[in-house]
Amino acid sequence: GTTRHYEFNIELQNVTRLCHTKSMVTVNGQFPGPRIVAREGDRLLIKVVNHVANNISIHWHGIRQLRNGWADGPAYITQCPIQTGQSYVYNYTIVGQRGTLFWHAHISWLRSTVYGPLIILPKLKAPYPFVKPYKEVPLIFGEWFNADTEAIISQAIQTGGGPNVSDAYTINGLPGPLYNCSAKDTFKLKVNPGRTYLLRLINAALNDELFFSIANHTLTVVEADAIYVKPFETETLLITPGQTTNVLLKTKPHFPYATFLMTARPYVTGLGTFDNSTVAGILEYESPSFHAPISIKKLPLFRPTLPPLNDTSFATTFSNKLRSLASVQFPANVPQNVDKRFFFTVGLGTSPCEQNQTCQGPNGTKFAASINNISFVQPTTALLQSHYSGQSSGVYNPEFPINPTHWFNYTGTPPNNTFVSNGTEVMVLPFNTSVELVMQDTSILGAESHPVHLHGFNFFVVGQGFGNYDSNKDPKNFNLIDPIERNTIGVPSGGWVAIRFLADNPGVWLMHCHLEVHTSWGLKMAWLVLDGKLPNQKLLPPPADLPKC
Ligand code: C2O
Repeated sequence: GTTRHYEFNIELQNVTRLCHTKSMVTVNGQFPGPRIVAREGDRLLIKVVNHVANNISIHWHGIRQLRNGWADGPAYITQCPIQTGQSYVYNYTIVGQRGTLFWHAHISWLRSTVYGPLIILPKLKAPYPFVKPYKEVPLIFGEWFNADTEAIISQAIQTGGGPNVSDAYTINGLPGPLYNCSAKDTFKLKVNPGRTYLLRLINAALNDELFFSIANHTLTVVEADAIYVKPFETETLLITPGQTTNVLLKTKPHFPYATFLMTARPYVTGLGTFDNSTVAGILEYESPSFHAPISIKKLPLFRPTLPPLNDTSFATTFSNKLRSLASVQFPANVPQNVDKRFFFTVGLGTSPCEQNQTCQGPNGTKFAASINNISFVQPTTALLQSHYSGQSSGVYNPEFPINPTHWFNYTGTPPNNTFVSNGTEVMVLPFNTSVELVMQDTSILGAESHPVHLHGFNFFVVGQGFGNYDSNKDPKNFNLIDPIERNTIGVPSGGWVAIRFLADNPGVWLMHCHLEVHTSWGLKMAWLVLDGKLPNQKLLPPPADLPKC
């Protein structure tokens, strides 16, 4: 492979959307941030220089970082943040992966503005397992807030209430014509008739799963989370924060004398307020050359119909269609045997209000979120460094529970006591443990889907269902042949999902809900995978410029 160098200058930039200008944290003044393009087998050296007052760290979402958690990026998990005036070089090689991923800030809510595509092309001369696209286009979804998102989350944490919602969704940073004062900020995809385009869809939104569709066009899904899938056609797709989906768009054979909107809006099942708006971009056909140029404004404009906001049945049907390609060239290495089984509840809960505080959460409490009823407390130094140096005492406890500490009826009547426990607990796994993990939505404060993301691994989604997971009955229906392999999965609203992965990557790996507000409330935990016996089964030593806390 080649070595590719990038420089990311973290700097403030004034950006205007919806007629609101704000000074925000960006990479190189760009919004969305720069696109990284590499090939499978390449080494990336990305120097991040912090010129702003905030601490920062960058995560390369979906990159496995074999034995090299030092380059993974979540602040206080694998590294201390890069402080003002400091820099750090993320140094990693892309092994055995190709497809669409993305990068984003991984501290507080800075990823609302600090994110961009991370595209890994196959090795030279390695073809795609589908028709060669005429062009490839990344479409990265985001959320635009008129206000400063750091202020929004710190206010929410202080008051215990739900944070203010976004003012718009965006495609490649642009909200589009359905918002006030936004028509000029519209993403336009110009296409020729009779061609196949590869759209690389990325959901970098902070807090919302999205439905996406293009009027009068069918999309063929070919990849999810940088893993090839069995192709299938769909009008609409669902993409959760943290997920990526590649689709083929075959354009109409002749100039259609029409223009088409592509739109995205949220899939929401939870409580509370949310941004119920729609981002639109435009699919515009180049007019035929023999023709006098056509005024696009005069052409009829078609708009797609998206599923209802809470359409869980669409979400389920869609996710059931996703299957690994499972071919000779791209096999699905599903762990057939399990060394350790875990059952984790994921969901919202509450924390007591402190004296003299008015708390805006349920019944005068504060919102919290947990896994197995433990709300993760961020340490003040990085877990991976403490583990590597053998100085973990006072930083974390290796006692994450294998079952929830209470709440044994997950989808029935909510319990009287909805309080979470707090702790910095990690789950320790010997090297090469084959893990099965069932994640159950608790529905304590209403059923809600949680897109859970695992760092350092892909996992296979072997089963999912509704109601309470039944450990006698449900495993009989697990798919161990061609389940989808990915890094982020929606734990269904009022249901459960079962995943399997092989813990072959020594280090400390964060797992969390990719709805940023839930992460802030504590819906996260870390796996600590121990070194194996052989030299090539051990965590690499830390780089010399690793930031200090
Ligand atoms: Cu894309 Cu830990 O996140």
